Amino acid sequence: MAHVVGGITTSHIPAIGNAIAKHLEQDPYWKPFFDGFPPVRKWLAEVKPDVAVMIYNDHGLNFFLDKMPTFAVGTAEQLINEDEGWGLPTLAPFSGDPKLAWHIVESLVEDEFDITTCQEMKVDHAYAVPMQLLFQENAAKMKTVPVCINTVQHPLPSPARCYKLGQAIGRAIESYPEDIKVVVVGTGGLSHQLDGERAGFINKSFDLMCMEKLVDDPESLTHMSARQLVREAGSQGAEFLMWLAMGGALTGKVTQLHSNYHIPISNTAAGMMLLKNAA
Ligand code: DHB
Ligand code: FE
Repeated sequence: MAHVVGGITTSHIPAIGNAIAKHLEQDPYWKPFFDGFPPVRKWLAEVKPDVAVMIYNDHGLNFFLDKMPTFAVGTAEQLINEDEGWGLPTLAPFSGDPKLAWHIVESLVEDEFDITTCQEMKVDHAYAVPMQLLFQENAAKMKTVPVCINTVQHPLPSPARCYKLGQAIGRAIESYPEDIKVVVVGTGGLSHQLDGERAGFINKSFDLMCMEKLVDDPESLTHMSARQLVREAGSQGAEFLMWLAMGGALTGKVTQLHSNYHIPISNTAAGMMLLKNAA
């Protein structure tokens, strides 16, 4: 049977993609951020997951405000990256895993999650930047199942609902009959707000509390509403919903192997975590 070997969370700020393209990893501005990743890559090289379930939010490349699913799963063989206007190089297509994706789709619908199934899917910076950070030159080859959560257009799904979605994804993976190792990645966050009166808003104490609770007591984070999350983390800090979904997918005993937190990258408090999931 398939097994969830661990979970990874990371911010997905477009500027990171530009820093990678320009080889700025050792630049003083970027070093404290990129220094978070070698231990994660080492763990990935040791554990060798077969597939990454990528939980992220689309920012207008695949879905726009006219049609905005709350939850969507991509079943395509190839996942297409396109120019979003951030000045990022357009990347070669990424790899889907149609067989596992359809299994997850069927399992989620059976579990009463009325998701949108995407047989074609464009993947934006929130998918592509973490893929580059984690898998580097192997990113295009790595099999993935993209899962989108709406954090762009209100009403947003609640933290509790996203955690339950993650639990259902965990159950779906663990019921997949093939003997494969799956890592679940949640991208976005931590606190940030890109526009409006609170543009530039960052909430370090809230972020650090969330990172701690995600390991020890993720359920305690599911009692706040989506609005409370926006109040505490900023309008785009609602991307913490993807971290919570990742947390839900860890079905076993969870241990933190590594974490990093650095302010600011662009307008965002950049956070990452590596969690091991023992059966
Ligand atoms: C930034 C952060 C994001 O999460 C995003 O999707 C786009 C931009 C930023 O801080 O620049
Ligand atoms: Fe974002």
